[in-house]
Amino acid sequence: MKPFYITTPIYYVNDKPHIGHAYTSLACDMIARFKRLDGFDVRFLTGTDEHGQKIEKAAATKGVDPQEFVDEVSQSFRNLSQVLNLTNDDFIRTTEHRHKQAAQHLWNQLVASGNIYLDEYAGWYAMRDEAFYQEDELIDGKAPTGAEVEWIKEASYFFKLSAWAEPLLEYYAKHPEAIQPESRRNEVLRFIEGGLKDLSISRRTLRWGVPVPGDADHVMYVWLDALTNYLSALGYPDDGYQQYWDQAIHMVGKDIIRFHSVYWPAFLMAAGISPAKTVFAHGWWTVEGEKMSKSLGNTVDPVEMVETYGADAFRYFLLRDLSFGQDGDFSKTAFINRLNTDLANAYGNLCQRVLSFIYKNADAVIPTPAEITSEDKALMAMPKSVLGNLRNAIDHFHLHRYGEAIWQVIGEGNRYVDAQKPWSLKKEDPVRMATVLYALCELIRQIAILTQPILPLASAKILAILSQEKSDFSALEVALMPGLKIDEPQPLFAKYV
Ligand code: MSP
Repeated sequence: MKPFYITTPIYYVNDKPHIGHAYTSLACDMIARFKRLDGFDVRFLTGTDEHGQKIEKAAATKGVDPQEFVDEVSQSFRNLSQVLNLTNDDFIRTTEHRHKQAAQHLWNQLVASGNIYLDEYAGWYAMRDEAFYQEDELIDGKAPTGAEVEWIKEASYFFKLSAWAEPLLEYYAKHPEAIQPESRRNEVLRFIEGGLKDLSISRRTLRWGVPVPGDADHVMYVWLDALTNYLSALGYPDDGYQQYWDQAIHMVGKDIIRFHSVYWPAFLMAAGISPAKTVFAHGWWTVEGEKMSKSLGNTVDPVEMVETYGADAFRYFLLRDLSFGQDGDFSKTAFINRLNTDLANAYGNLCQRVLSFIYKNADAVIPTPAEITSEDKALMAMPKSVLGNLRNAIDHFHLHRYGEAIWQVIGEGNRYVDAQKPWSLKKEDPVRMATVLYALCELIRQIAILTQPILPLASAKILAILSQEKSDFSALEVALMPGLKIDEPQPLFAKYV
């Protein structure tokens, strides 16, 4: 099986999870699920970023020991996997031994290749971004991101980032797929073309971090530490990490593209490792038209959303409503509309009217078809025929198109039911009714196979009602067996006012 590796950013544990974290993780989960169904050997990684000044301060504010603090908050991110029904194969924490070891190994590689030197850093630092800024980057005394900055002057190890501008530009010229979407790629290229300054990669006035090998007075800069998680989870530097690494896809929000597409590939190249295959930066959600912030109290809590609407509904909205890569707005009205229109009225209704009808009027077994018309054939061929488009949507990160393509087929399914009127055929032509119902079961079965990456719970329910065990994409090629029992269908999706 071909290896496939996809990662979320590792989340800061200074606060509990919100919709932004849920979004990045869900996008990765959708892709990971699709790839598994499509026969790939998938590794899907998420985890928590637990070092740095921000976390140290958050722990101090709460009056607890940093380790105790990160243990607790990290657990709420681990729980998010259950809540959102994520299929991550691993969960990495930067306070784990396996990670610290890998980070120190990478550091040693950078030293060995002559990319690290000791000097003094004098400049601005924004704790919120965990980033260094030059004087000329500040806007009204703040970081360009709006974060507060403080002046820092201390001994620091530096990474020779300036030497990597040319190699990075050459690499990106040869690998257009390495930064996506294109607008982000251009943004990164302009930044590199502007010239790169050497990067401070250690802190002396901070204790909460991975110790710099050979100099216990310093801890590693939290981004160098954090980025290494993508390798440490694969067992780097031991053999065997490479096969997944070669296929690595980093899904990130647009705010952290520079760390992933400038610093990270430069560290990697300097250590003799090839950069990740792709970094994809998605957009940001606002909430009811406003920037989400704790002070406004408008953060969307994924746990509450799932408790109220179910994991599938929340997943479906996030992965369908927003053109993936763009910014978008989370509004309650749009959310409810989509659940009602697409889930309850379109998909739910198709399944409910067909499966309940069979349960009540056709002995609760999948009917045996008689003469199959060209219309029936076309209907049953439809879901299979969109698999190519779905693959394309996944491989090109057009995640919103996934649902679009399937819901067209669902629309056709509902039109077929209206046109064929199985309820009238019951008396007029029971043989034809059996064929129509068989065609519809076959349609629903295939749709349920295809909707698994986006609606895993509902798909599993539908496949169980139809007594289907095999559900990867190869099952699309094997026609549905008539005569199997149909369990009593329950409504799949609620309607909301
Ligand atoms: N710890 C770093 C990442 C290190 S990766 C080696 C970090 N963590 S974070 O918790 O602040 O953010 C994680 C992700 O959440 C980012 O991809 C960010 O873009 C995303 N989001 C945070 N708020 C968001 C929205 N409002 N909307 C969409 N995504 C947003 O950065």
